[in-house]
Amino acid sequence: MAQIRIESLRKSFDQFTAVEGSTFTIDDGTFFAMLGPSGCGKTTTLRMIAGLELPTEGRILLDGEDVTFHRAAARDIAFVFQLFALYPHMNVGENIGFPLKCQGMARREIRERVQETARMLRIEHLLSSKTSKLSGGDRQRVALGRAMVRRPKAFLMDEPLGALDAEFRHLMCGELRDLHDRIKATTVYVTHDQLEAMSMADQIAIMNKGRVEQIGTPQQVYDRPASMFVADFIGSPPMNFLRFEGGLRSGDRAVSFHDTRLAVPEIREDRANAPLALGVRPEHIRFVDAGAVRGEVFGAEYLGTTQIVTVDTAYGRVAARLPSSASVRIGETIGLEFNAARLALFDIGSGLAIKTAGEEGARHG
Ligand SMILES: Nc1ncnc2c1ncn2[C@@H]1O[C@H](COP(=O)(O)OP(=O)(O)OP(=O)(O)O)[C@@H](O)[C@H]1O
Ligand SMILES: [Mg+2]
Repeated sequence: MAQIRIESLRKSFDQFTAVEGSTFTIDDGTFFAMLGPSGCGKTTTLRMIAGLELPTEGRILLDGEDVTFHRAAARDIAFVFQLFALYPHMNVGENIGFPLKCQGMARREIRERVQETARMLRIEHLLSSKTSKLSGGDRQRVALGRAMVRRPKAFLMDEPLGALDAEFRHLMCGELRDLHDRIKATTVYVTHDQLEAMSMADQIAIMNKGRVEQIGTPQQVYDRPASMFVADFIGSPPMNFLRFEGGLRSGDRAVSFHDTRLAVPEIREDRANAPLALGVRPEHIRFVDAGAVRGEVFGAEYLGTTQIVTVDTAYGRVAARLPSSASVRIGETIGLEFNAARLALFDIGSGLAIKTAGEEGARHG
């Protein structure tokens, strides 16, 4: 299996830049998700890694070898387009062995490889079954088997579960992750679904308008978003932003938020007076009688164990996640208390997070 390194990768289509100067390394055996909204350049990046698209600038290295100008077929990378597209007229074994047959491999060797692949996927008992009889999970295993049988260095998957309904997709996510844990193949998985990325990936790259805004573990991108874009894209409901103007000094442990002082994680950079945003996740808000920020309850959405309560404040509408047992009345005035240790600060001008204690390493360089 392989390490994939992307260096200053850029792709333009005429005047339009689809992918802009990304540099990152995908370590051997990592399940790496590329997450972002439609049109942010995920597929284009994946196609460059696969060798289906030539970069305008930059390099792609596979285990340290520059493969930027190698043909797709010479890269030993499996591009899994659609996990459910099987050849209906072939049985499971024939489906899995088909890529080897195309390569002209000897039949005995094909049989051995197919057996070995089926064993890894735990579908040996299905080898002579018709694909039309398979469950969704087994179809996915067969499709993966067909990609695995060539023993590629890495798997690239572009929204492989995109066509499925939510419940089934969730089930398949678990399956895919389980397979990955057994096979330990470097996998680059493209999705615009944050839940898929968060639940499966070791590392997530969040893309916006052709740029990688942050790379980190699911927890890093959730807890320490590098930008307002990331903070807004990850989490449902997303992080709340409360605007204020102010200056910051490295070492400060509080900020002047309008006419009150609010404790924040220790600040690690200086900032002259600028438009700033306080970032607070819905689950880091408590309702209190007093409270520096006050507002009127606008609505409550019951979600089972928790409820999302929206509150109209002088700084905009704020969503709080409370236990569903908490009683709230629409229209009542309440105070909001923020968990100081979990607050984030952003520079509205650049959209980037202000560095605070504990954040080192979370931002993409
Ligand atoms: N062959 C092409 N010629 C011109 N523009 C292209 C081409 N391929 C992609 N683009 C543009 O590049 C941008 C990035 O496209 P890409 O397909 O990589 O996005 P994506 O993140 O995969 O989006 P989606 O989630 O919709 O699949 C888009 O604006 C798209 O229109
Ligand atoms: Mg795409």
